Amino acid sequence: MLAIESSCDETAAAIVERETSGALRVRSNIVASQHELHRRYAGVVPEIASRAHLEKILPVVHEALAVAEVSLADLDAVSVGIRPGLIGSLLVGVSAAKAIAWSLSKPFYGIDHVEAHLWSGLLEQDLPAFPALGLVVSGGHTSLFLLESSATPKLLGWTIDDALGEAFDKAAFMLGLPHPGGPHLEQLASHGNAQAHAFPLADGGALQFSFSGLKTAMLYAVRGVPAGRGKTSHFTRSHEDLSESAKADLAASFQSAAIRAVLRRLRQAYELHPCPTLLVGGGVVANNALRHDLMAFALERNIALRMPPQSYCVDNAAMIGGAAWMRIARGDAPDLLTIPAQPMSKLASA
Ligand code: KG4
Ligand code: ZN
Repeated sequence: MLAIESSCDETAAAIVERETSGALRVRSNIVASQHELHRRYAGVVPEIASRAHLEKILPVVHEALAVAEVSLADLDAVSVGIRPGLIGSLLVGVSAAKAIAWSLSKPFYGIDHVEAHLWSGLLEQDLPAFPALGLVVSGGHTSLFLLESSATPKLLGWTIDDALGEAFDKAAFMLGLPHPGGPHLEQLASHGNAQAHAFPLADGGALQFSFSGLKTAMLYAVRGVPAGRGKTSHFTRSHEDLSESAKADLAASFQSAAIRAVLRRLRQAYELHPCPTLLVGGGVVANNALRHDLMAFALERNIALRMPPQSYCVDNAAMIGGAAWMRIARGDAPDLLTIPAQPMSKLASA
């Protein structure tokens, strides 16, 4: 199967193949990142992203075929991330995937990107025991799921404001780190003292997440509490006034508070639904401190943790192929080529 992903600022294509054992083998996984193009704007600029996808999509598909040593004629199916994402970016990958599927008369699967992150820990692994809890933490989503089977996941909790990755990126921006800031903040945090600042534990109520309070606490810790009121309100300092070790302490304290908030929700979800399996995915699962805490959480409770290697955490196309195989395995029909790209996920919030 050829799988394509173009929902945000990565143009990606992969070839995946089901082995006789049932495990899904990734034969190639090519990702062309646009981070450099967006860095000077400290965020993804949708028009620039769409144009870069247009330039990259065919070279990336050709490279995925070449690395896997297959030709278009060898393909049995085509899948693509169809929602959620930047609509102009999605359209590039979706149009390419539809054109390839149509020209080869092969089945076509339009895949939800959040669901793909959720299943990404199953790439090159056996199917887990259900029911399972699921956690997706990325730049766009922070969601907890209950999976009774491999059919549509039930959403238990989501973020009422920022996604976890978005909060990492904004905190990193406050510290003067380049976009996307999550990995840079992790690096800086590795030299810092996580106990230096007592940041609030983010809380959105019930099984919901919220990171806006933590973000404001971080902003005030970096720039000071604003002086003046209304139009005369201003910050008294910037990250440039802080020493490297002060910045490292802030990064470490932020990271620790953000991760504790996620683990607290996970604990609560497990108390309500003590499942034998935990699936995790999304860009922030590349964070080593979070990985460590997820492993400890699973080990203490004897839970089978399905956590993808870091290369399948940040956006990639192998996970799109993985989610498409899950659909095939449960007997879902392929999609019609008329299915549209959509900016929102059906899984993201209730
Ligand atoms: O899954 P992903 O590639 O894209 C979305 O679907 O949003 O996630 C990207 C997010 C960004 O916010 C990025 O900063 C964050 O994942 N991220 C990290 C790390 N690596 C990526 N956050 C914290 N620590 C990391 N090591
Ligand atoms: Zn993603």
